[in-house]
Amino acid sequence: MVNFLIFGPPGSGKGTQSVKLAEKFRLVHLSTGDMLRAEIASGTDLGKRMSTIMSKGELVPDEVVIEMIAVKIDSTKGFAGFLFDGFPRTVAQTVALEKMLNDRGMKIDRMLVLDVDHDELVKRLIARAEQSGRPDDKDPAVVDNRIDVYKSKTEPIINYCREKGIYQPVNGMGSIDDIFARLAEQMKKFV
Ligand code: AP5
Repeated sequence: MVNFLIFGPPGSGKGTQSVKLAEKFRLVHLSTGDMLRAEIASGTDLGKRMSTIMSKGELVPDEVVIEMIAVKIDSTKGFAGFLFDGFPRTVAQTVALEKMLNDRGMKIDRMLVLDVDHDELVKRLIARAEQSGRPDDKDPAVVDNRIDVYKSKTEPIINYCREKGIYQPVNGMGSIDDIFARLAEQMKKFV
């Protein structure tokens, strides 16, 4: 099994690239954002509680996403590994993921960080807001807050992973196909 984190601020292309990379490398794509939106769409109690937090661009509690990921890891069989998208988002989530994987004889093999200019992030999210039903795309103040939360709570994971020797920055500017090729080139070294 080989396990990757795809990492970067809101709008950096994590979701877009994960779908293509998971297919190419036979990985299971685990997106905590997608899982939480599915809870909201199904009208579960958890979804109702989390939707208020997500609509403000804040992070949901660590224990909620850690539990979701643990359930998925244990219920998935027959793949080459996992591609974690939007998780972990705090150092505490990172430590929990490492433990979860270690307990099952696995590890985080590489953290791929998409580097994208701030103006390009905002441009992509504003463009998606015109079609998407995502409430967190529609209000520019919420988009700004998501980017601020990334800087304050999520970016510190980069230093944590750099010290572990698994950090790999990737240029996230340009066409979707060019970025995909850059990511695939890095991942091929591990698969
Ligand atoms: P999440 O769903 O993870 O959203 P996000 O991190 O804000 O990321 P986005 O989905 O906006 O961007 P992305 O990097 O995936 O880019 P995408 O490919 O979509 O999280 C949502 C919320 O859930 C969080 O705010 C939080 O509340 C909660 N949450 C989730 N996980 C959590 C966790 N672990 N802990 C706590 N809370 C959690 O692309 C964006 C747009 O750009 C698309 O329209 C796409 O078509 C376009 N695009 C992509 N690439 C390009 C390109 N190269 N050129 C032009 N356009 C492009």
